Amino acid sequence: MGMQGYMEYSLSASNWADIAYSPEGVIGFLFGRIDKYSGGPVPKKAPLGEVPTLFRSFLEYERRSPRILAFIWSIFVTELKQRLNTPKSDASVEMFIVDSRYRGRGIGNELMDRFLKAAKDAGSSLVTVYTEDLMSNWRFYENRGFRRVATFRDNITSHYSGSEARGIIFALDLRERTRNGSADNKGKINPGKTKGETRSPPGCA
Ligand SMILES: CC(C)(COP(=O)(O)OP(=O)(O)OC[C@H]1O[C@@H](n2cnc3c(N)ncnc32)[C@H](O)[C@@H]1OP(=O)(O)O)[C@@H](O)C(=O)NCCC(=O)NCCS
Repeated sequence: MGMQGYMEYSLSASNWADIAYSPEGVIGFLFGRIDKYSGGPVPKKAPLGEVPTLFRSFLEYERRSPRILAFIWSIFVTELKQRLNTPKSDASVEMFIVDSRYRGRGIGNELMDRFLKAAKDAGSSLVTVYTEDLMSNWRFYENRGFRRVATFRDNITSHYSGSEARGIIFALDLRERTRNGSADNKGKINPGKTKGETRSPPGCA
């Protein structure tokens, strides 16, 4: 339900897509924005960001809910907090997920390595990402050298999960030579551990 809206929005804000496949099909992907990426321009961002997409997508799900007004409010508030707290960056991770059956085999690190390399090669200096601490593996970013820029209540996730969720904005300075921010750091999808492979379409506008 909500996932569809996030996917639509993430794709509409991305010009980089990297998809990991196994013989069964797609097992993970990373959608991102790289402002100076030569493979394709960043699509123009809708003035209200993800609000209309999320609104449309969740409306069906929440239509009969007596808490519809609270839900609409949560969308606006969360979007506003993100906008106010996200530093100006020239690259961002928009959507990043690996099928739970394939996690822990190096696929996520490989997808991230490739994205960071592309961002660095394009001359990007700062990568940002928004995540939340309830359903996401936010520690992945800390382990990769991202620093926490802001933490606040994620009203959307808190609303539909029924539990308190905190939104976290992470940033990685690509000009610093960190372990994982370095363009020279080329992690590999473990060919010995998984049959997965990645392919990079030119973009996903
Ligand atoms: C974040 C995510 C994409 C990582 O994908 P992955 O393929 O599991 O990543 P890797 O196999 O490359 O592992 C990354 C790290 O997490 C650790 N890890 C992965 N799965 C683990 C598990 N089930 N238990 C413990 N550690 C795990 C690995 O040891 C590795 O640590 P290292 O870099 O210090 O060696 C995946 O966990 C995921 O899809 N999570 C849900 C969605 C999400 O959180 N997306 C990102 C936030 S928007």
